[in-house]
Amino acid sequence: MRRRDRALAKISIEPIADESLGVRSMALYADIAGLKILFDASVSLGPERYGLPPHPEEFKALAKRREKILEKARQAEIITVSHYHRDHYTPPYPSLFECTGGNEYLEIYSGKILVAKHPSEKINPSQKERARKFFKAIEGRTNEIHLVNDSLLSFGDTKIESFLAPHGENLGYVLCFIVYFQDKAELAFLPDVQGPYSNDVLEKITKIKPRIVIVGGPPTYLSGSKVSKDAVDRGMRNLSRLYAQLSQESKIIISHHLLRDPEWREKLESYGIPGNSIKTYSDILGLPYTGLEAYRNFLFENNPPPSNYREILEALKKERARCDKLFDFLEK
Ligand SMILES: [Fe+2]
Repeated sequence: MRRRDRALAKISIEPIADESLGVRSMALYADIAGLKILFDASVSLGPERYGLPPHPEEFKALAKRREKILEKARQAEIITVSHYHRDHYTPPYPSLFECTGGNEYLEIYSGKILVAKHPSEKINPSQKERARKFFKAIEGRTNEIHLVNDSLLSFGDTKIESFLAPHGENLGYVLCFIVYFQDKAELAFLPDVQGPYSNDVLEKITKIKPRIVIVGGPPTYLSGSKVSKDAVDRGMRNLSRLYAQLSQESKIIISHHLLRDPEWREKLESYGIPGNSIKTYSDILGLPYTGLEAYRNFLFENNPPPSNYREILEALKKERARCDKLFDFLEK
């Protein structure tokens, strides 16, 4: 059936991985009137939190979510890369904290239409280098590649708009996406916008009013340390405005940095957003919020791994092993 023959826009979304499911990611699968898109196909763990490495429970969640990404990538036609942080694109090498053995990137991106952030414009040096290596590795493997910063791509009656947004205060830019079906904004995917931090992004989204808005929340857990208090406050105020202006007609789903803070609900409340009115990926899946990194200190306290755990992790990193191998060690 040709896409233009579909009478009604049938939309479904399936959260694949994020902090509410115990990992770092915003991976989302969406079927917009038959166009199957996998947004930001990767997953990662925070290397250090409360002075601790990821707990074995986090590695279990990571392995599970990595499998899910591989499964959904097989079904997707289009895969996005919003920016070149490893929780948003699967790197072409083995990596313990991303649970890659080295070939997953080929399973994910081969034969797909890639819509990716431009690798050399409006990008910082570290991401530029990662992008260069990534595109060298996937050369000739994909079906189509669209390297974009601002664009509107058409796939039958479905259009994908992309535009740049600041990755918070000082981490360069990320690509945001709005998917339209027959010119109606169905879905906005706003990864790592940190609130949004940008007033322009807030204005654009509140004007367009997409039916579903997936937004990366501010990194409250880094406020006053790696990120300035002002930047976090601005992100929270903008999130509050987004909520006030859109929550009647749009479904707002909050993901990512904010959910690494064990007090995220209280912090939303303090900016006038009722904590229980906000949806997370885990809510959409009917699961409880399972913020493992947020509670890593308690995980170590209540269920301590073996005393040589750090050495095991170091040995696995050196070996360039996939994260599953850790489970063999722990069972011994
Ligand atoms: Fe991220």
